[in-house]
Amino acid sequence: MPPSARDLRVDIDRLLRRLAALAEIGAIEGTEGCARLALTDEDKAGRDLVVAWMRDLGLSVTIDGIGNVVGVLAGAVDGPPVMCGSHIDTVRTGGRYDGNLGVLAGLEVIETILAAGLTPPRPLAVAFFTDEEGARFPPDMLGSLVYVGSMALEEALDIEGIDGAKVGPELERIGYAGAAPVPGLVPHAFVELHVEQGPVLEVEGITIGAVESVQGISWQEFTIVGQSNHAGTTPMSMRRDPGYVAASIATFVRELASELGSPQVGTVGMIELTPNLVNVVPASATVTVDLRNTDDTVLRDAEHRLAAFVEEATAAEGCTVATRSLARFEPVVFDPAVVALVEKTAIDLGHSVRRMPSGAGHDAQMLARVCPTAMIFTPSRGGLSHNPAEYTNPSDLRAGADVLLQTMWTLAEGSTEGPSDG
Ligand code: GLV
Ligand code: MN
Ligand code: MN
Repeated sequence: MPPSARDLRVDIDRLLRRLAALAEIGAIEGTEGCARLALTDEDKAGRDLVVAWMRDLGLSVTIDGIGNVVGVLAGAVDGPPVMCGSHIDTVRTGGRYDGNLGVLAGLEVIETILAAGLTPPRPLAVAFFTDEEGARFPPDMLGSLVYVGSMALEEALDIEGIDGAKVGPELERIGYAGAAPVPGLVPHAFVELHVEQGPVLEVEGITIGAVESVQGISWQEFTIVGQSNHAGTTPMSMRRDPGYVAASIATFVRELASELGSPQVGTVGMIELTPNLVNVVPASATVTVDLRNTDDTVLRDAEHRLAAFVEEATAAEGCTVATRSLARFEPVVFDPAVVALVEKTAIDLGHSVRRMPSGAGHDAQMLARVCPTAMIFTPSRGGLSHNPAEYTNPSDLRAGADVLLQTMWTLAEGSTEGPSDG
């Protein structure tokens, strides 16, 4: 007789083996991390491996026009699946868990169910969404944004990346411009397992985060143009130096975040000077600013203050500036019933749990627009992420994957109306 679904537990060694195999693709030498920027050759190789695993498990695999991949396991009844998933693209200095965990734990959930000879009450799906990081092609969560119908496919395909390549041709090049339509199938519910990427769970000694919300995200790019000139001969009073303006923006962003106080954060992650030479006053500077807050009113205030500063600092230096919004997402609140289910499932499995917001952006925040959604967090050592040293210990990974399995099963047993309405 097959075991009861309630007794199922994932095989952590199998999950670790898959995490390690995927991390070999784009591995950053001398580290545990990897570099698989969206739609690069490395991303293609990672995709091919995960799709092969999906097919080995007998899932029916579809690829849509923006390259999102969904693998579905049939259930006892037909209908929209309970979906889990995340992303397998990484930043250039990525860890092996960010995104990958949510996808590979999904495969592990399915393999555990199949190995026990069980059929889920309704279909289960595992998805990986294109370009969640947005590090090559902004905005972040691009694939899931298109999946839920919040960005037209044509607009997404036309996005230009930091290296001048475009999404559409890159998707074609790697063979992932699929035929499945977008917007995609609306799931019965969506659950994303992810590493916390911050310090809270580790500091508090808690194993599982039941994620209630995601903070708002604002990404902007400023291109400042001045007068390139000789570094030795140009008097300081006669300079129009975009490098100086870029540096003052970086300082301002730090001061602004400190003044507004937690949870406001602000980051200048990229400054590019042209021509970037020791003895040349730069001709231009490109600066990115990442502002985030759980309160959209404060986030808007931060954006206004930054805009005023950039205008003033640019004019004072006799430069010009062009401003481009790279991403803007309001804070998201997850479905209370799914959050409560994650919390209860963790408790039932004997794990410590707390409710918490997410500081990072996630595909789940897009899926929340169309179906009941929540997330499960596991601790990150030292709070490190977007860093090859990112690490979560195997027992925490196992706990997270078990919570995912049992949460998905309960959702699959639920009413056809979805968790909040059932
Ligand atoms: C994207 O994942 C982000 O939070 O930057
Ligand atoms: Mn991620
Ligand atoms: Mn990330």
